Amino acid sequence: MPQKRRAFLKTTTLGLGALSAGTAYSCQGQNPPTNLVTKPIIISTWDHGMAANKVGLDILKNNGTALDAVEKGVIIVENDPKVQTVGLGGFPDREGVVTLDACIMKGDGQCGSVAFLRDIKNPIAVARKVMEETPHIMIVGAGAKQFALEMGFKEENLLTEPSRKKYEEWLKTGIYKPKINIENHDTISTLALDTHGHLAGACTTSGAAWKMHGRVGDSPLIAAGLFVDDEVGAAAATGLGEAVIRTAGSAMVVEAMRHGQSPEEACRSVCLRIKAKHKDISDLQVGFIALRKDGAYGAYSLQPGFTYALGLDDTHELYPATSMF
Ligand code: GLY
Repeated sequence: MPQKRRAFLKTTTLGLGALSAGTAYSCQGQNPPTNLVTKPIIISTWDHGMAANKVGLDILKNNGTALDAVEKGVIIVENDPKVQTVGLGGFPDREGVVTLDACIMKGDGQCGSVAFLRDIKNPIAVARKVMEETPHIMIVGAGAKQFALEMGFKEENLLTEPSRKKYEEWLKTGIYKPKINIENHDTISTLALDTHGHLAGACTTSGAAWKMHGRVGDSPLIAAGLFVDDEVGAAAATGLGEAVIRTAGSAMVVEAMRHGQSPEEACRSVCLRIKAKHKDISDLQVGFIALRKDGAYGAYSLQPGFTYALGLDDTHELYPATSMF
């Protein structure tokens, strides 16, 4: 567990200064301590979360909002054509079309989402517009693209040459069998706590590579890919969306924290639930990150290989999540 987290906890007469992160409050049923210092913190899925966190933490340290931090952070990854599971350069579906899914949520319950969006490289920014500019939460497909264009987003080709080549290689067999930690290495999900004590989260992906045209995973679904509640904390998912949706994964992680589980324990309990719902999980990867309202955080995955990035104080670090196997 990251030792730097110790600095995050205020030493109190309750002796909380001896606690470290994530598993610090892992006793089930134990009430989380309430007298922790609120400092900005940002946590993201996977190695590419480092780039998102760098932008997000700067915003947070300037007393910006968690909402701006998570949106501007994940946009960096959406814009990076080398990340082939998010935004520009994402792997296409089996028809060769790149379609994007994203959602964003604030701790007060405000949220927005787009799914099956084509030709717009920043679905997270469109999701924020849905939240802020419409009476709706989710807009999909042609309607989402029409809305994005109306909001001034630029239409562009998202299929890069490297992703097109990979697609052509895949076409030789055409077998859909997601590879854990490789083709589905995966959604960028980012959670942040700002200096005002508010939480927000963002989740954005091109979805499972070579998916059926029209397939939507967990990432744009509030409660599955992302859930945020200022009363408790926030959680987000990565991995095979179908498995996350079956358990309303992120909402369940937040509810487990509400009932006293530590962030890591809450992520683990939903992974156990996913395991129980699948006969064979040898090829199945799902990972969760969680951030509690007092800044405690944790992560857990079914399979090894899932990493999460943490931005706190002046440091950015990447950690392997604890896994079931
Ligand atoms: N978690 C990304 C997806 O399954 O679409």
